[in-house]
Amino acid sequence: MVRLPRIRGELMYIPSLLVKKREGQALTDEEIHFLIDGFCNGDVEDYQMSAFAMAVCLSGMNRRETTALTQAMLDSGDRLPRNRGDSERQRVDKHSTGGLGDKTSMVLAPTLAACGFDVPRISGRGLGISGGTLDKLESIPGFTIDLSPTQSAEVLADAGVFIKSASDRIAPADRKLYALRDVTGTVESIPLITASILCKKLAEDLDALVMDVKVGAGGFMKELDSAHQLADTLVGVGKDAGLPTSVLLTDMDQPLGQEVGNACEVNEAVEVLQGRTGIVRDLAIELGATLLLKMSVVDEVEQAKKKLEQMIDNGFAFERFERMLRAQQGKWDGPLPLAEAHVVTAESAGWIARYDCRALGRAVVSMGGGRRKKGDQIDHAVGLKVHQRIGDTVEKGDPLLTLYCARHRVSEYVGGLQAAVDVVETPVAARPLVLHRQIADV
Ligand code: URA
Repeated sequence: MVRLPRIRGELMYIPSLLVKKREGQALTDEEIHFLIDGFCNGDVEDYQMSAFAMAVCLSGMNRRETTALTQAMLDSGDRLPRNRGDSERQRVDKHSTGGLGDKTSMVLAPTLAACGFDVPRISGRGLGISGGTLDKLESIPGFTIDLSPTQSAEVLADAGVFIKSASDRIAPADRKLYALRDVTGTVESIPLITASILCKKLAEDLDALVMDVKVGAGGFMKELDSAHQLADTLVGVGKDAGLPTSVLLTDMDQPLGQEVGNACEVNEAVEVLQGRTGIVRDLAIELGATLLLKMSVVDEVEQAKKKLEQMIDNGFAFERFERMLRAQQGKWDGPLPLAEAHVVTAESAGWIARYDCRALGRAVVSMGGGRRKKGDQIDHAVGLKVHQRIGDTVEKGDPLLTLYCARHRVSEYVGGLQAAVDVVETPVAARPLVLHRQIADV
């Protein structure tokens, strides 16, 4: 006979909870904890959890349920400890929903450390066409992303920043659930995305978080409306779960910066840390300024930007980056080597109107810069340089893209990549980078 657990005298029967969610009713906090705990200890089967994820996708969850789900997934694992003797500095971080060429974390994390914060950053690997900070940093010889809790505390004390992988003990429920969502068509759900992101950030035990929600073809929120909904949910659930969360909605209809790949993105991030201006620096400063305002370091956005710019221009941010590398067994010895360069040129003069971000991202994955399946080896040296931004002009024969890949593979990509950049005869306006800013009110 199956023995069913009781909550407040009610029998908990998993299929009934699934029906309840399928029919659009709100689950109680206890029911959500029961499902997540059961999933982690094997009482709830993968097929039942997949059905739950699909029911949430179709019926949604209210803010209270989403907070309970976030909390239950956080409680499935550990938090980064704050030991006695650890620094008293406030802890902050940023997280992006992921986009093509997004190397902002490598610039912003050491810049925030230079401003006097601790940045205990748990990052991820590439997902689909979005690269992952861990894969990028592993382009640096010797750099390790596996830090024990003691090592993490040491790196934080020394550099004010670490970037490491999540141990199996950080939100294991999210890891298991994400693996199911990935193969059951249940990734695109605002409550599931919110809980998945925030449970991992809550595990860092932060004082404030800024989220970069990407909007457009290169991210997974394609429309402004759904991006606003995600932003509202992140801010609301962050507040309820005790993590002040601010959000920027930013353009992802084109690659962020010039480089897309692993080693080439690290090279670009270092150039920015060494003072190069442009969109990557602008975005890092916008995100950082949002955090500085939230933490009341300054009162005005312009003052906040100035402080961050000084940290970069005076070399303090790069110094933090180098310290972090050394503490994580890496070393910056100058630009990382890339595969052979081959230029794709414009076939006509005009204005850059559109990038097919999926096609660009898929080409980099196919060259070996990303994984087609779990466990695939990454080739750090391959990638793409994107020479213009939307709204720029080109003459016939100007470079559009540079491929970094083995000579014998170039012909596989040239036609597709040329078609991935639309050049038109009438002027096209440049696109704004920041579409919306929402600062946490807690
Ligand atoms: N990033 C995450 O960590 N989880 C999601 O569900 C989506 C993006």
